[in-house]
Amino acid sequence: GQTVTNVNISESDDAPIISRHIYGHFAEHLGRCIYEGFYVGENSTIPNSAGVRLDIIEALKELQIPNLRWPGGCFADTYHWMDGIGDLEKRPTIVNTWWGGVTEDNSFGTHNFLNLCEELGAEPYLSGNVGSGGVQELADWVQYTNFKGKSPMSDLRRENGRDEPWTVKYWGIGNEAWGCGGNMRPEYYADIYKKYVTFMSDADIEGGLYKIASGASNDDYNWTEVLMKNIPKNMLEGVALHHYSVIDWDAKGPDVDFDEQTYFNTMKESWLMEELIVKHTAIMDKYDEKKEVDLIVDEWGGWYEVAEGTNPGFLYQQNTMRDAMIAGMNLNIFNNHADRVKMANLAQTVNVLQAVILTEEEKMILTPTYHVMNMYKVHQDATLIPLSFDSPKYTLKEESLPALTISASKDEGEKTHISFTNIDANKAHTVSLDLNSLNIKNISGTVLSSDSLQDHNTFENPDKIAPKDFKDFKFKKGKLEVNIPPFSVIVLEGYK
Ligand code: AHR
Repeated sequence: GQTVTNVNISESDDAPIISRHIYGHFAEHLGRCIYEGFYVGENSTIPNSAGVRLDIIEALKELQIPNLRWPGGCFADTYHWMDGIGDLEKRPTIVNTWWGGVTEDNSFGTHNFLNLCEELGAEPYLSGNVGSGGVQELADWVQYTNFKGKSPMSDLRRENGRDEPWTVKYWGIGNEAWGCGGNMRPEYYADIYKKYVTFMSDADIEGGLYKIASGASNDDYNWTEVLMKNIPKNMLEGVALHHYSVIDWDAKGPDVDFDEQTYFNTMKESWLMEELIVKHTAIMDKYDEKKEVDLIVDEWGGWYEVAEGTNPGFLYQQNTMRDAMIAGMNLNIFNNHADRVKMANLAQTVNVLQAVILTEEEKMILTPTYHVMNMYKVHQDATLIPLSFDSPKYTLKEESLPALTISASKDEGEKTHISFTNIDANKAHTVSLDLNSLNIKNISGTVLSSDSLQDHNTFENPDKIAPKDFKDFKFKKGKLEVNIPPFSVIVLEGYK
């Protein structure tokens, strides 16, 4: 018979809430994410609301996206927000120097983005320009978006058709300051950070602005250490971290036609997220044992060679069952670290990197990653149920990785949700859980799986991969046994 892995449920009175913001998204002016993706313009034949595709709005509402980060990414440190407000005809152009060198007309700007967030019921997360923008420019953006009273910026906002402020809480102080955001040393950036935030007014937001320092790339622990040491806690709500599941920056491998070794290597990179969170958290703990500063993973996801025949600067890639594995694993990791990780932003929402939505003219498809996010949304703002277990191994040649990630939570309606991701390309794994402490009488389940790892949805066959009912479990006298198929994602719901 098959070995059964025991999963222990730890009773805990102080388990954290899984912030809904872990399920956040990221939309940069990059390739076809904003223009042609979200934004087709009011005169488009594609059904839209103020120029934003209705099918995308509907799909993101269904996902209950809690926040959206914009306008970058690297683009953010080249972006001058004042060029994207007011009379369309008078707006200057901007050359997107990081992504394809294309000229944009600035038709999608602050009003478009913040109104879109309102329509989605999502919190906007604005990335301020620190690399090439001034202190006054960022201070003015805060006043423009947040100030109720009379001021130069709120008057300008009103002139442009918006009376009430949007009250933007989440602000990034530059992006990747160690790289495209200005190639700074962490000591220098920490000083710059303090200078910029000093002039950003907290006054109009309950509890003040939520300011996020541009964070480390991967295992640059010194970056986190220097920021934590040099920035006083009363000036800092979050420190960012970026980690992509990329196997080799010089040979990223194909988006669809990958072999099992490449898949395994992607999973290895994806698993690094666990170690990175643990180690960055340990540094943060040294300076902040009460966990007042949050870890914000504001860019994550798979990154491959662009889809054949597409612009290399546009980062358009297909999305297969491999991406579903990255999503399922990372979201479990974030949930289980909900005491420190309070926000994460998948890169990127539409047509870029590990997108949840792909478009082709009037057509739109939802990717396997979308379905995982949708299955996992039940964890948003639920209380974590800490678990412990020794994962069976996924072995290829001489190497192995833990095959399973699992996370569980209880929501306000007393429903329990358990999400399982099995990255093993070949083997099913069976787990058993004693749910007697959780007061559960019934269980239902959903699974995302497919015949091959390379499977994906296409514009011709948009529903090849979609969640289905899952019944391959036994539940008797409070004991649950679940059989998790190879490369699959399962979410179970337990209720009275
Ligand atoms: O998401 C694509 C790019 O990756 C972002 O612009 C940048 O922040 C990161 O390097």
